[in-house]
Amino acid sequence: MSSDQRFFDFLKERIGLDVASVGPAIIERAVRQRSLAAEGLSSDQYWQRLQGSRDEQQALIEAVIVPETWFFRYPESFAALGKLALKRLGELNNMRALRILSLPCSTGEEPYSIAMALFDAGLAPHQFKVQGLDVSPLSVERAKRAVYGKNSFRGQLGDFRERYFSAGADGYQLSARVREQVALNVGNVLDPTLLANEAPFDFVFCRNLLIYFDQPTQQQVFEVLKRLTHTDGVLFIGPAEGSLLGRLGMRSIGIAQSFAFSRHTAVEPAPRFVPTPLPVPPPIRAPAPLPVRARPFISSAPASPVSKPVAPASDAQALLATIAALANEGKSSEAQRACEQYLRSHEPVAQVFYWLGLLSDVAGSALQAQGFYRKALYLDPQHAEALMHLAALLASQGDEAGARRLQQRAARSERGADSERKR
Ligand SMILES: C[S@@+](CC[C@H](N)C(=O)[O-])C[C@H]1O[C@@H](n2cnc3c(N)ncnc32)[C@H](O)[C@@H]1O
Repeated sequence: MSSDQRFFDFLKERIGLDVASVGPAIIERAVRQRSLAAEGLSSDQYWQRLQGSRDEQQALIEAVIVPETWFFRYPESFAALGKLALKRLGELNNMRALRILSLPCSTGEEPYSIAMALFDAGLAPHQFKVQGLDVSPLSVERAKRAVYGKNSFRGQLGDFRERYFSAGADGYQLSARVREQVALNVGNVLDPTLLANEAPFDFVFCRNLLIYFDQPTQQQVFEVLKRLTHTDGVLFIGPAEGSLLGRLGMRSIGIAQSFAFSRHTAVEPAPRFVPTPLPVPPPIRAPAPLPVRARPFISSAPASPVSKPVAPASDAQALLATIAALANEGKSSEAQRACEQYLRSHEPVAQVFYWLGLLSDVAGSALQAQGFYRKALYLDPQHAEALMHLAALLASQGDEAGARRLQQRAARSERGADSERKR
């Protein structure tokens, strides 16, 4: 292990970051960057500086965090939230506003998506309040400014940008109506006093944070999340984080791809989920321009690409969009047939195998799902959703090491994508 272990330990203690989740290179680079910024100090001198300066500590934390986020990330979760919120208000006889937490909120896209989704589900401003917390003061500042560039709007957009934003010279400014629903503050999930005097929340979003922690820290944070979530509440997590919650006594509420968990069976499992007509972008990856593959496949390839009739790319994209729509409407057999149709008439692409994996997963065929996720990864080794879903499957089967490796790959892939994007 590198001589920079003390920096790894510092970051683990302060924000829970597990060096294995992101790899030592990323932390070492951040330390180098900060040492240079601090008058080109040596590693030892920089360590001394770090000990005596809260500002420097914060700067190092800012240099290693992953603020990657966008509006309506995992759209099904927001569609689910709209439905669950209406149900919850009914249970409460509208006696109080719903309380929703987004932790970590990063630069605000998640808590603002929550507010937009609730407005679109028909809730009035007085019926809900969203609280966003993040350990990064810079991210929280950006969230408060609420001006966003194109990377905050990914996939097919629907019309929410037109309805809730106005275009300006710096980017898209979010409307005051949405901003007023969201309170934003700096907060560390490891702080034992975090929100200690607050009533529990009806809905808690804690997505894409646990993947950066080792298991004892995940467990510790899970206890915090449990304290923060009302006993009848719902906890939304990231796709790769479900197996942990399963082991810790929470159960999926059964809405496909919402990654939502409850303590009880308060919410009836709904294997077939018909999304509300929210203006959310359609699902998981919108069909990106298809990669032109120079026949990289060998005989072990998932499906033989040899002598496939090559249909026009627009057909392929339309079919991918159809598959996504069918899967998200819970029309599993139709979605599966559309996948098979795709593979009969087009070059195989990772996204289709990913969908097949997901459909098998939802149907409870773990083994088959694994096979499809692996085929997706054969075609696209960085396919983030396939990595995360396969990781979750492996973890649920007790293969912690395998799951961890895939999570690390997914984290690296997200980081790589992040650094390519210019905000
Ligand atoms: C990948 S973003 C996730 C944002 C959003 N939840 C999503 O899924 O799109 C991870 C965020 O976690 C924050 N974070 C890291 N460690 C934290 C901690 N100990 N407490 C609170 N936030 C933390 C980072 O600042 C970063 O903004």
